[in-house]
Amino acid sequence: MRRRSLLAGVAGGGALALAACGGMPVQAPRTGAPLRRLGFGSCMDQKRPQPLWDVVLGAGCDLLVFGGDNVYVDQPATPAAIERAYAQAAELPGLARVRATVPHLATWDDNDYGPNDGDASFAHKQASKDAFLRFWRVPADDPRRGREGVYHAASVGPPGRRVQVLLLDDRWFRSPWRRTDQRDAPGRERYLPDADPGKTLLGEAQWAWLAQQLREPAQLRFIVSGIQVLATGHGWESWSLLPRERQRLFDTIAHAGAGGVVLLSGDRHFGAFYRETEGVPYPLVEMTASGWTHTWAGVREAGPNRLGEPYTGLHFGVADIDWDRRELALGLVGQDGAMARRLALGFDALNVRNASA
Ligand SMILES: [Fe+2]
Repeated sequence: MRRRSLLAGVAGGGALALAACGGMPVQAPRTGAPLRRLGFGSCMDQKRPQPLWDVVLGAGCDLLVFGGDNVYVDQPATPAAIERAYAQAAELPGLARVRATVPHLATWDDNDYGPNDGDASFAHKQASKDAFLRFWRVPADDPRRGREGVYHAASVGPPGRRVQVLLLDDRWFRSPWRRTDQRDAPGRERYLPDADPGKTLLGEAQWAWLAQQLREPAQLRFIVSGIQVLATGHGWESWSLLPRERQRLFDTIAHAGAGGVVLLSGDRHFGAFYRETEGVPYPLVEMTASGWTHTWAGVREAGPNRLGEPYTGLHFGVADIDWDRRELALGLVGQDGAMARRLALGFDALNVRNASA
């Protein structure tokens, strides 16, 4: 059965199978074949022009990750507004072609979860999850249906060349942010860091799941978070607002002995690379790719951890893996299909373990 053959060697690959459910041929990675190009994007307003889907279709991604804000729900975020947003997205022909032909995975951020900057208190989160599971055609036997939130893991590729994708849920369990005292002041735009030990970003169940997943064998591990993890120095939503939770993420990676971690995030309406060298088991790198349909040309960000300037054209991200040369190249692909930004990283710098040459 074709659907099953796609899943050989794929742990937690139910969402990969969904790409085969659309009734059209699927450009899936060959069974057990190493992943060579992963695509990643976020921030897709279904009511705006959609110029990137043909670029994505031509990019040859073996797997495409939707990193949140995959639709924009009108406020207030009622169940009807959520349903309407997904119904509008389902009508987009370019996105439909992508969803029918490119294996893909998804998590959410605030705009598809529901309320702007939303947290665990959202009253309609179960209705939102139901809509998410329907739109992304999550199979009936998927573990996400038996637990809270939408966090999920999938692995692709053979032993020695395996890629793990860990999709976090940064909304369902999250405690409230601490509000700013100086709205729009640089570094304090909306929220302030909060060291309250009672506050959580992932919630205990998701933390336990993540710690266990990071012990699964993989050479490269893409941890997907709707909001930024490594970026500091701004007061928009990010893991920096809960510094204890941010450090817990680094410690969880360290305690699991997990090499090859690369962070992927969205939410900010521009693209950029970041690197953190403090409090981490090895220098961690993040690619923010945020702008399927709209970006923020006027972004100002102190960005002490940012590498280079933000990219504010429409874009999506790619991660190109050269298993023979032991190199990972992160890139931001613009509307013209050209690579607007690129960051090449050797496997050794990423602490990749036991990769087969
Ligand atoms: Fe967002």
